[in-house]
Amino acid sequence: MAKRIGILTAGGDSPGLNAAIRGIGKTALARKMNIIGFRDGFRGLMENRTMKLDHETLASILTLGGTILGTSRDKPHKMPVGSEVMDMTEVICDNYHRHNLEALICIGGGGTQKNAYRLAQKGLNVITLPKTIDNDVSMTDVTFGFDTAMEIATEAIDRLHSTAHSHHRIIVVEIMGHNAGWLALASGVAGGADVILIPEIPYDPKKVAQAIRMRQHRGTNFSIVAVAEGALSVKDAKQKVRLQTKKVEAKQAKDEKALRKVTEEIKVFKKQQSNSTLILSEQLEEMTGLESRVTILGHYQRGGTPSANDRLLATRLGSACIDYIEKGQYGIMVSVNGEGANAIPLEDVVGKRKVVPEDHPWLVSARDVGTCLGD
Ligand code: F6P
Repeated sequence: MAKRIGILTAGGDSPGLNAAIRGIGKTALARKMNIIGFRDGFRGLMENRTMKLDHETLASILTLGGTILGTSRDKPHKMPVGSEVMDMTEVICDNYHRHNLEALICIGGGGTQKNAYRLAQKGLNVITLPKTIDNDVSMTDVTFGFDTAMEIATEAIDRLHSTAHSHHRIIVVEIMGHNAGWLALASGVAGGADVILIPEIPYDPKKVAQAIRMRQHRGTNFSIVAVAEGALSVKDAKQKVRLQTKKVEAKQAKDEKALRKVTEEIKVFKKQQSNSTLILSEQLEEMTGLESRVTILGHYQRGGTPSANDRLLATRLGSACIDYIEKGQYGIMVSVNGEGANAIPLEDVVGKRKVVPEDHPWLVSARDVGTCLGD
């Protein structure tokens, strides 16, 4: 009997998802397997909302942004259902068996890898692909979506240069990446940002202002500051560690009251952080006497046509995924290893965010060319 394979896309969308669906789908069909799509991530599998994937639906999607399947951040074990949050893992497993699936392919970032691993522990044949513009999934050279987002952010920095130059201004450009600095660092270096601030290196606003003033002394009255959305000042980074430690201690002591209090404090801290780029811009204006403006690139970085690199990567990971299914290798992520692909056990992937190491060549080069990193 022909093998029947399910596919879902979960977490934030990212360029290249449709190329991956096409890569998986066309390879599977060529090898006489049947495929079925589940809509909106794990929610669609729970609610049994499917999409037929055949030659017709797979045609002309290679260059499309987003995902034809839709996506969501819903987790099988914590799914909002009506006014409640419920563990829907069993329903998901039942639907998997009802469709008589040989395997389920989950395409997503760090959160999706964790959710897929939970399903693998329930006995489902799960296999994942790494996608996210953040590039923070461990055990893979790169994730698809990153290259496109890097191009978009770099182009934005290029364009911001001419307006910053004309008005003799500072422009602080906020770049996505969650708690990892890959996207801000890569686009900052490629776009020639004068300052790059990433979560891995807490910054001192005074040092940033000093670097901008140095440029003023040399006769350059504008600066581009590329700041990752997760970047923290030294003061806030210390506060974050304090709160995290308090949370761990409250959990260990099984002190419910203390846990509630620290959870609330963390919520307030996160809310304050959502304004950190605006605050930094105001601080720089005050400290340098230059006008400063903020540009938040936001979801613009996730939309639209994937780059050629992302299409290529997603296609080759998609077809490699079918090779592993043919071999019956499950509970794995198909990771990028140079021009090849590797099967990495999901237990080695989950719970580890890949962040920028302090000796990474991109960081070393940024320092070499005189970029201020805020430290
Ligand atoms: O993980 C991708 C990402 O774009 C992050 O860079 C960002 O922090 C987050 O998703 C935004 O999430 P949402 O689309 O749910 O607002």
